Amino acid sequence: MHLKHLLGIEKLSKEELLFLLKNAQSLVEISQRELKKVPALRGKMIINLFLEPSTRTRSSFEIAAKRLSADTINVGASDSSVVKGESLFDTAKNLEAMHPDVIVLRHKESGACEFLAQHLTHCSVVNAGDGLHEHPTQALLDLLTLREHFGKSGRSLQGLKISILGDVFHSRVARSNIFAHALLGNQVTVIGPATLVPKDFENFGTNNVRVAHQLSAIEGSDVIITLRMQLERQSKHFVPSLQEYSENFCLNKKVVHSLAPHAVILHPGPVNRGVEISSDLLDSDQALVFNQVSNGVAVRMAVLLAVATSGKEKVV
Ligand code: CP
Repeated sequence: MHLKHLLGIEKLSKEELLFLLKNAQSLVEISQRELKKVPALRGKMIINLFLEPSTRTRSSFEIAAKRLSADTINVGASDSSVVKGESLFDTAKNLEAMHPDVIVLRHKESGACEFLAQHLTHCSVVNAGDGLHEHPTQALLDLLTLREHFGKSGRSLQGLKISILGDVFHSRVARSNIFAHALLGNQVTVIGPATLVPKDFENFGTNNVRVAHQLSAIEGSDVIITLRMQLERQSKHFVPSLQEYSENFCLNKKVVHSLAPHAVILHPGPVNRGVEISSDLLDSDQALVFNQVSNGVAVRMAVLLAVATSGKEKVV
């Protein structure tokens, strides 16, 4: 299966979602080999255009490309002509003139990836997070992590109760996960203060989303996706203080004690310890944050393969 672009989970079919997950699962073992490299994308060029900061996504896209033998370059906001005022359009058109196969874009504006996909003629575009819109590879790596975890006890990804807790309004991770779990038919509850979890999330993408404003709504969850408080996107005060927010919504061991033993915690990172999740819970076995990061490499390998090849190239 070949994808021209990956702009968001919303645009994927369930078949495409499951195809990417299956391929990612098969690519996990490449990172566990002594020689962590296969020739699948030899001769292909991938540009990571990250115009917003990133640690996990940028490094894992680069590692993924290198494990597939692609050539990569990284272009950031502070070390490119963006600081001289060059527009996204001109930046991307100039990069495309160097014949890359894929541009991976992170941008602060929602819709920036769609915009590039409309204006670039030759190369594929992969969304590495655009504004409040989507972060599709984060949702895919979250799903891969859940598939690994629940697969151990013979459960599938379907039939899970998912809670998404925290700054849902500013979260592209939340939006991509809501679309993904809608495709799987899973029930999603979004939880947080009314300012950060508006009532109209009930109608977001699916009619299977519940909105709650008390932490106790996590009861019965199989999965709790905790979200970072995105202070850099908050132009006004959404909560009276971080202390008050954490008193009401910080996930901690005492709160999750009532959940079933199989219940797990995800967090996309970076984490504000003690604000959205307590340090001891984050460092416990119940939190799968490093599994998420590891799986990010395999997911991004699968995505790069799907957009940069006809789908016929052998991986090993
Ligand atoms: N989860 C995530 O997108 O992290 P980074 O901002 O570090 O890439």
